[in-house]
Parts: sequence; structure tokens; C-alpha cells
Amino acid sequence: MQSHELGSTDETIVVLRRAFDELGDLFRIHVPSRGGSTWVASHPDDVKRVLVTNHRNYTKGVGIDRVRLLLGNGIMTSEGEFWRRQRRMMQSAFHRRVVERYASIVREENEALGAEWSAAARSTGGVNVTYSASRLALRVILRALFDDDLRQLVPDLDNNPFAAILQDARRDTRFAYEFRQLARDVKALVEVRRARRQERFDLLQLLLDARDADTGEAMSDAEIVDEVMTLVVAGHETTASTLNWTWWLLATHPAVARRVAEEQRDVGDLGHASYADLIRLPYMRQVVDESMRLYPPGWLLTRRSIGPDTLGGHAVPAGTDVFISPYLVHRHPQHWRLPETFDPRHFDPPQVEARHAFAYIPFAAGPRHCIGQNFSLYEILLHFNYAARRFRLTDPQPVQPFLEARINLRTASDVHMRIQQR
Ligand code: HEM
Repeated sequence: MQSHELGSTDETIVVLRRAFDELGDLFRIHVPSRGGSTWVASHPDDVKRVLVTNHRNYTKGVGIDRVRLLLGNGIMTSEGEFWRRQRRMMQSAFHRRVVERYASIVREENEALGAEWSAAARSTGGVNVTYSASRLALRVILRALFDDDLRQLVPDLDNNPFAAILQDARRDTRFAYEFRQLARDVKALVEVRRARRQERFDLLQLLLDARDADTGEAMSDAEIVDEVMTLVVAGHETTASTLNWTWWLLATHPAVARRVAEEQRDVGDLGHASYADLIRLPYMRQVVDESMRLYPPGWLLTRRSIGPDTLGGHAVPAGTDVFISPYLVHRHPQHWRLPETFDPRHFDPPQVEARHAFAYIPFAAGPRHCIGQNFSLYEILLHFNYAARRFRLTDPQPVQPFLEARINLRTASDVHMRIQQR
């Protein structure tokens, strides 16, 4: 058995990739610091078993400890009955009909980005796409959460304390400490909101108004703060990363970019679209799906078995760390034709139908799948509807960006591109 330290680190993705190429569907790696072995399961049948059919037998496991430092006991990190209650209370805030109420926020932020990109196209001719994407996603989630109160929390959005998440590459305990200081400011805002009782529509209000279906109880201030911090982090880097990778893939695949531009031109400005309107961008959706196939932001799902289980015909004892990596599953040679090639045709409907449903899991699956899936797809597709009709991004780094595979899978350095107005 191979022996390696495993975690959400840049080296882990390399180790897992190598072992997967050599050993395939199911393998074990000895992890010295944990004095035990971690199983890595990549067959879609095992994915289904761990995430769906036998999900009650798994907790989130090792990967989540570091995240908990940052996010407290929010919905991403909590377990058991408490998680179930929070998930039930939050679920309706992410329905399609609710998500589309953020249309004007998404629109205004795309227009702000568009103004900057137009200026760049006229002056330097270059943009830092990674930075732009990150800023867009952060501003959208912050405004969706706090509406006008954001100004009270962050008087100047360009000089905002949450921007540390955007600029600060450190993901260490000091960063976590500073991040928790922000939680204090959020708590102050929650108190103001409770006192004011004004009709509002934003995610914070939805959290304040949510009631436990069994007991009728609301969330406490501390619980709301943890959920808010969770949504800022979970809703920002993941979406930003998909925007970033997708722009890079378009820039390096001009034929795909041309087809995207044609579709966007034919469809025109979807403006304040409903969720159902997004169906009018089938090719763009395939491009985004393909981008998340090759570069799934949530590239590593960590779980730990509570009782024994059987995966791939092998007995897995209780208390075993089981990793599922969407990055590996999405490149499984038995489930994907030319798995290393960027080709949106992987998502042509006949191919999708013929494929195992659990060979594609960018938002995970089962009860703990991403609660923000609708939110992010809405934001991403509207971004491209706005920007791909106006701008052509080309001439990126000549080589594929290095991967930074920590909690999220990102480009190791910022992607700079040449920009032209269409
Ligand atoms: C492209 C964008 C996104 C991707 C690829 C993504 C991916 C994922 C994945 C893979 C998980 C499962 C993690 C695990 O089981 O260990 C997850 C969970 C979660 N995501 Fe997302 N996410 C995205 C956007 C968002 C957004 C926009 C939000 C919120 C506004 C969000 C909020 C959450 C939350 C709260 C969870 C935890 C759910 C639970 O455990 O019940 N995500 N996401």
C-alpha cells in the first residue's frame, strides 16, 4: 500500500491522480499522521452508495476540521439532527423562484464588470480574469445576503473587510481568526435587523424568518452568523473558480468560443431572466458543465464511515476515511470518452443519457449536495449571457495554469487575458 499524507493540499491531488491511474476504482493510501488508511472510491456505483443510498453511514470526516475553524457550525460542517434541521430551514431560500429574485443584483454587478472591462479594452487591452471573477462572485453573494444593509456593514465595497477572502492567499489559523472577527460585525447587523422588523428580501431575512417545521423555533443569532459566514465562503470561491476556468477554456478553444458567441447573439440579452429562461442557452450550459467536469471547484469530498460498509466488493470497516474526488470521477476512462479533452459534446443529451448518473458530481449528490447549485448556475449563465456577447478574451498564458487544489480547485496564479470589445 502506498503511504502519503493526504488532505486538501496541492500535493494530494497529484498523489491521488497517480494512484488512480495505476489502481483505478478503489484504492487505499496509508496516512502516517492518522495512523490508518484512507480509501479513495471513484466508481460511480460507490459514489452513489456513499453519497446517496448509504449516506446515513457517513459523516463528513477529516477534511472538514479545518473548514470548521473558519465556518463554525454552519450547514457545511454540521452533522446529524442539527444539520438536518438547518438544511430544512434553509432549503426554500435556494429554490429557483427565489434565486431569480436576485436578477437585478446579478445584472448590476455584470454591468459594473462590463464598464471595467470596456475601459480595459480601450486602454491596456488586458484583464485579470481571476480577479474580476472573484470580485463579481463576492459582490453578488454579499448583496444577495445583506441587500442595502451591506453598506452599513461595509461602507465602501471596494475596501471591504470580506475582500480579505479575495486577496488573502493565506488559509491559516491567523486568517481564520481575522475571519471570525468579521463574524462579530455580522452579528451586530443581525441584532439591528431583528430590532427593525422591516419588510425586506435578502438571504439574511430568509434566515431570520425561517422556522423549524416541527418546533416552530427560529435560528439563534449565533446560528445565523455561522450560516451567513458559510454562505459567503461556499458561495464565492466556487462560483468564481468556475467563471475563471470557463473563460480560460473558451480562450484556448476558439471554435467553442465562436459557437458560444453565436448562441448568445441569437438569444440576445436575457436581462432580468427567470430561471426557466436559462434553457435558451443549451450550448453555454454544456460548456459550463464541461468546465466543471475538468475543474470541479469542490474537487475532494471527504467522508468517514460510522459503521462497516462494502465498496467495490471490499469490506470497509467502521471509522474509515473514504474520499471521493469529483476530479477523478470526472476523468474516469470507462465513463468518459477522451476524458482529458475539453469537449462540450460530452454533455450532448444522448451522451448524458448513456452515461452513469453518478459519473458527474460537481455539486456532489444526495442529501448533502450543494444547496447553492441553482444560485450559482443562475449567476454563471447570466454572466456569460452578458459578457460573452460584449467581449472576446484571448491570448492567455501559453501553458495550462497550475492547479491549486486546496479546499477549492483554482488556478495557482491569476489568469491574465487580452480583451477586445465585440
Ligand atoms: C460552481 C459553484 C459551486 C460548486 C461547484 C459547489 C460545490 C459544492 C459541493 C461539491 C458541495 C458538497 C461538499 C461536500 O459534500 O463535502 C457543496 C456544498 C455546499 N454548497 Fe456549494 N458549490 C457551488 C456554489 C455554491 C453557492 C453559490 C452556495 C451558496 C450561495 C453554496 C453553498 C453550499 C453549501 C451551504 C453547502 C453545504 C450543504 C450541506 O452540507 O448541506 N455553494 N457545494
